[in-house]
Amino acid sequence: MNIYDSARIRDALETLGYEETDEPTEADILLLNTCHIREKASEKLFSEIGRLNAFKQERARQKKETLIIVCGCVVQAEGAEILKRSHTVDIAVGPQNYHLLPEMVARFHRKNGRVLKADFPAESKFDYLPKTKATSASSFLAIQEGCDNFCTYCVVPYTRGCEYSRSAAEIIDEARQLVETGAKEIMLLGQNVNCWHGSGAADFGELLYLVAQVDGLKRLRYTTSYPSKITRSVIRAHAEIPQLMPYIHLPIQSGSNTVLKAMNRQYTAEQYIDIVEQFRKARPDIAVSSDFIVGFPGETEADFEQTLDVVRQVEYASSYSFKYSPRPGTPAALMKNQVPEEVKTERLIRLQALLLEQQKKAYEKTVGKTLEVLLVEKGKKKGQLIGYTPYLQTVHVEADDGYLNQIVPLKIKKASATSLSGELNCDINKKTGF
Ligand code: 5AD
Ligand code: SF4
Repeated sequence: MNIYDSARIRDALETLGYEETDEPTEADILLLNTCHIREKASEKLFSEIGRLNAFKQERARQKKETLIIVCGCVVQAEGAEILKRSHTVDIAVGPQNYHLLPEMVARFHRKNGRVLKADFPAESKFDYLPKTKATSASSFLAIQEGCDNFCTYCVVPYTRGCEYSRSAAEIIDEARQLVETGAKEIMLLGQNVNCWHGSGAADFGELLYLVAQVDGLKRLRYTTSYPSKITRSVIRAHAEIPQLMPYIHLPIQSGSNTVLKAMNRQYTAEQYIDIVEQFRKARPDIAVSSDFIVGFPGETEADFEQTLDVVRQVEYASSYSFKYSPRPGTPAALMKNQVPEEVKTERLIRLQALLLEQQKKAYEKTVGKTLEVLLVEKGKKKGQLIGYTPYLQTVHVEADDGYLNQIVPLKIKKASATSLSGELNCDINKKTGF
C-alpha cells in the first residue's frame, strides 16, 4: 500500500512540475513515506530524517532549498511529535491527505510555514488525486482502504480510518489507465480487500470478474484478505477467471483459537483450514501464504504449537511472520500477560524455520516445469532479468532487455529457498513472449 501511495504522491506533485529522481542531491523535495504497523518501522523514522537532513544541509551550502516531507501512518499517529522533535521536517502529511500536498507545498513556499495535516477529511482523496500511470508491468491499484475489524494488536483502524471502498467504475477506469500505460498485471490492494463494498458490483468476487474483463490485462492479483469474509464468489473466481493468478494471501495470525479470540479475529483455526480447502478445491495448484504473529499476550507454548500444527496442515508457499509488537492505543498493548522478548524470539525462529522449509519445497516443486513468468525488472548482473511466476515466486533468467515487461514461458532449472532460475526457450518471440 505504501508503494502505491508513494506513486500517487509523485503523481500529485507532478501537477506542480516536479519529477521523480533517485538522486537525493538533485531533489528539491525529499519525501519519506512511513509505516506504523510495528515498532521498528517507526523507530527508523528519526534516523532516516537525520540522513535526509545531511542532504538538505549540503544543498543549503549550495544555496538550494530542500523541503523534507514526511508522509504515511507515523504522521497520522505522531505528526505533531515529529514536527516538535525534528525541526528539519517541513511538512508532515497523513495517508488520507495526499491530495492536498500540492496545495501544502505551494502554501509552504508562500508563507514558509511548517504544515501538519493528519485529519480524516470528509472528501475522498481518490476523487482529487490525478490519474495514475503504471509504475511497472506489474502495478498496484488501491480499491479499498481502512479497516473496521479492530484486531486488538493493530493500529490500522486508527491510522487509516474506517473502511472505504472506491466504486467499481472508478476502479475499472484506473485499471484501464494502468494497462494503457504498460501494466500487464494488476494487484488490487486493500487492508481488507475482500471486504470491498463499493457501488457497481455486488461484492469483491463480482468485482474480480469485472476487472478481469479490462482489455489487455493479462494477470490479476489481490491482497490482503480477511479469512472469514471470503465469499463463494471469490472462490468461484479462482476456478473460472483465467487471468486471476493461483495465489491467495490469507493471514491466519495464530493457530490457537484462544489467541485468535483475544486478537478479536472473527474465525477459528478450523474455519480457516476449511476456507483454504475450498480454495484448493476450486484451484488445486493455488499457492497459499499467510501472516503470523508470535508472542501475542497470553500465548502459551501449547498455543504456539497449535500455530505450528496449522502450518504443517496447510503447507504454505510463502509467509510473513513477526514478533508481537505492542502498539500505543491498541487494547493488546494494555493486556497484563505480555510474553517476554526472549520467548517471542525463540518462537519466531522455530516458526520461520518451518515456514522456510515449506517455501523451499514450493520452490523446488517447480523445477523441470515450464511456467509463464512476467519479467518486470533488470537483475543486478548484466543480461539478467527478474520476474514472477503465477505463484508469485521470484525467477532469474539470462535474457536481453527486449524481454522486459513480457510474459514469457520459462523452463525452471534450479531452485533455492527464495528464488528460481529459469531458461528461455529459443523459439520465443521477444515482442509477444510466445
Ligand atoms: N505486532 C506484530 N505484527 C503485527 N501486524 C500487525 N500489527 C502487528 C503488531 N502489533 C502484522 C500482522 C498483519 C501484518 C500486516 O502485520 O500479521 O497481518
Ligand atoms: Fe489490522 Fe488487518 Fe485486523 Fe484490520 S483486519 S485491524 S488491518 S490486522
